Amino acid sequence: MAVLRSSSRCSVSVIGAVLLVVLVLNGANLCNGGKTSTFVRKVEKTVDMPLNSDVFRVPPGYNAPQQVHITQGDHVGKGVIVSWVTQDEPGSSEVLYWSENSEHKKTAKGKVYRYEFYNYTSGYIHHCTLKKLTYNTKYYYEVGIGHTVQQFWFITPPEVGPDVPYTFGLIGDLGQSFDSNLTLTHYEHNPLKGQTVLFVGDLSYADQYPNHDNARWDSWGRFVERSVAYQPWIWTAGNHEIDFAPELGENEPFKPFTHRYLVPYRASNSTAPFWYSIKRASVYIIVLSSYSAYGKYTPQYKWLEQELPKVNRTETPWLIVMMHSPWYNSYNYHYMEGETMRVMFEPWFVKYKVDVVFSGHVHAYERSERVSNVAYNIINGLCAPIQDQSAPVYITIGDGGNLEGLATNMTEPQPKYSAYREASFGHAVFDIKNRTHAYYSWHRNQDGYAVEADSMWFFNRIWHPVDDSTSA
Ligand SMILES: *[C@@H]1O[C@H](CO)[C@@H](O)[C@H](O)[C@H]1NC(C)=O
Ligand SMILES: *[C@@H]1O[C@H](CO)[C@@H](O)[C@H](O)[C@H]1NC(C)=O
Ligand SMILES: *[C@@H]1O[C@H](CO)[C@@H](O)[C@H](O)[C@H]1NC(C)=O
Ligand SMILES: *[C@@H]1O[C@H](CO)[C@@H](O)[C@H](O)[C@H]1NC(C)=O
Ligand SMILES: *[C@@H]1O[C@H](CO)[C@@H](O)[C@H](O)[C@H]1NC(C)=O
Ligand SMILES: *[C@@H]1O[C@H](CO)[C@@H](O)[C@H](O)[C@H]1NC(C)=O
Ligand SMILES: [Fe+2]
Repeated sequence: MAVLRSSSRCSVSVIGAVLLVVLVLNGANLCNGGKTSTFVRKVEKTVDMPLNSDVFRVPPGYNAPQQVHITQGDHVGKGVIVSWVTQDEPGSSEVLYWSENSEHKKTAKGKVYRYEFYNYTSGYIHHCTLKKLTYNTKYYYEVGIGHTVQQFWFITPPEVGPDVPYTFGLIGDLGQSFDSNLTLTHYEHNPLKGQTVLFVGDLSYADQYPNHDNARWDSWGRFVERSVAYQPWIWTAGNHEIDFAPELGENEPFKPFTHRYLVPYRASNSTAPFWYSIKRASVYIIVLSSYSAYGKYTPQYKWLEQELPKVNRTETPWLIVMMHSPWYNSYNYHYMEGETMRVMFEPWFVKYKVDVVFSGHVHAYERSERVSNVAYNIINGLCAPIQDQSAPVYITIGDGGNLEGLATNMTEPQPKYSAYREASFGHAVFDIKNRTHAYYSWHRNQDGYAVEADSMWFFNRIWHPVDDSTSA
């Protein structure tokens, strides 16, 4: 089985056999890493919930709105994009909304879209942006106007500022299996009460079905509605969002994803919905795309180059980056897939002192120490990760529980940069207390219970740049 203890010692000859000789010459001690959890998950197959499951139920009523979801709709948190699908006819794209302490219902006008994918035609997909909301306020909203009206609510974030506590949930690679349902349930019941989900990509896994059966995009939308209709999920594009299928005559990448999940990319002057930024409470969040060009001169490269200097850590002390494919991953899955982007962007992450990077893709959990690997210049041989207190912590949280199952095979020995790794499903919470401290915890799905299995106090890289490493 794949559950292995980290070796307590490893000789130079073993490293030499496993790693490039340059790394040894470089004096890097890459073995004897952190902890490889010995927790053994009950190994039953990860299977999708059947379409007639309770979580996929279509709401009753003529043209009833379904798959309701919200995300941040502007750069600072005063806007919300409300999206939903109607099946029988377009119906109204209006949203009625009002704050808790107001009687007066306001109306916002949205737009309706459809798309086709092979022989599938989507329902009527509505998107409507609510603007100029008041911070820190509970709003009710209604969709399905004129037919079957459904009411939901959300709470706007506090005004952007340095000392605003805020709690983010972290979910990745969720899919729609029975395990996905456990992960979402545990997130909802977590007493730390996440206020917004940072979703690191790979939503529905509809592309695993024949012809990328887009009905599985619809079922996924109904499955997660119970959370995402009430709190925003911040979207990152994963490889399962690409849906590039020339064999089906589908040559437009990201078609289902971009029609269904809008993001406020224009508000951060991005030119495509795959990379963008938002401010929320005391955090500046940068979303990057592992599956869009990021080489020099590309739109994403140019955008990020201009974006990082704009982050004002007096206003938003915390700087979080999200991307799908991890840069520091010691599992034998997707190994080094993140390497090309790391080469392009890592020096900037160190320069601008990113606090933490969240990724998915690998269906397991891993947390790194603060490391960087930016010294290499082709001829100097300096190509090993080193401890670096200006570098982010890298967290892989692709463990939502999709039908592809767990990634259990790890590289051995555990690299030194890897602080903790475990092949279990789960979710995490990043709980910002103030400008200096955030409590991070990862919660595995353990026989139906959520168990905190890994945690760490994050010290902000600008306001409290004290060593917060957890390995001895
Ligand atoms: C799409 O085509 C597949 C076979 O290629 C078929 O099984 C399926 O029922 C079709 N779906 C629709 C909506 O026509
Ligand atoms: C999914 O989880 C919810 C909440 O725990 C539960 O009510 C529901 O029955 C579950 N559905 C399936 C198909 O497991
Ligand atoms: C976007 O560009 C405009 C025009 O240059 C500028 O005024 C605005 O501040 C920029 N927005 C962000 C979030 O960078
Ligand atoms: C950074 O933000 C602080 C607090 O909002 C503000 O006082 C300061 O002027 C900003 N600095 C820059 C360079 O915009
Ligand atoms: C784990 O991955 C390695 C490298 O890809 C491979 O050689 C090995 O056979 C795998 N082990 C198992 C148990 O699958
Ligand atoms: C910030 O939060 C940490 C953890 O809760 C606490 O120990 C520290 O005193 C707080 N700092 C300030 C200035 O309140
Ligand atoms: Fe992925």
